[in-house]
Amino acid sequence: MYQVKSFSPETTYKLAFRLAQELQGSELIAIEGDLGAGKTLFVKGLAAGLGAVEPVTSPTFTLLHLYEGRLLLAHFDVYRLPSPQALEELGYEEYFFGPGVTAVEWSDLIQAYLPEEYLLVSIKRIDDPKRGEGRLIELVPFGIAIETLVEELMKDDRPRD
Ligand SMILES: Nc1ncnc2c1ncn2[C@@H]1O[C@H](COP(=O)(O)OP(=O)(O)OP(=O)(O)O)[C@@H](O)[C@H]1O
Ligand SMILES: [Mg+2]
Repeated sequence: MYQVKSFSPETTYKLAFRLAQELQGSELIAIEGDLGAGKTLFVKGLAAGLGAVEPVTSPTFTLLHLYEGRLLLAHFDVYRLPSPQALEELGYEEYFFGPGVTAVEWSDLIQAYLPEEYLLVSIKRIDDPKRGEGRLIELVPFGIAIETLVEELMKDDRPRD
């Protein structure tokens, strides 16, 4: 498990941006964290890192957004999903097991649908006496390929905030 502390939205965004640059395709990134933790911000960083900023899908279709960049990024926000089974109506398999990248906000709600190999990104609020409010971002790889990818990301030890 790898931990990164972030004391600004930019730091969180940049971490996701750099992670996106390591992605090869067929990865799933499961993102956990409370309301306002920074999950959507993290996905925006992923999208930008893949070279896409605006979703190509309608903003009113809120459970699934697609971003077209170097790889297709499917962004699921399952918070308002009526039930885990409703994921099937969204055609999740095409994305979870497809050639692009999938990011799932509130992935703990659909745990049973996650593939064997994925990267868990868990974002928790922290309060530092000196640096103030921040986030502890934990990267937990499941599977060898994902582990290698995160290792590559963490090799670059430039200051992150
Ligand atoms: N270090 C930080 N990292 C990420 N976000 C931060 C940080 N510090 C402050 N923020 C703020 O926290 C908010 C995170 O919002 P965001 O929409 O990404 O959260 P979320 O986890 O997607 O929430 P929701 O559960 O409602 O979908 C933003 O307003 C962002 O500016
Ligand atoms: Mg969100």
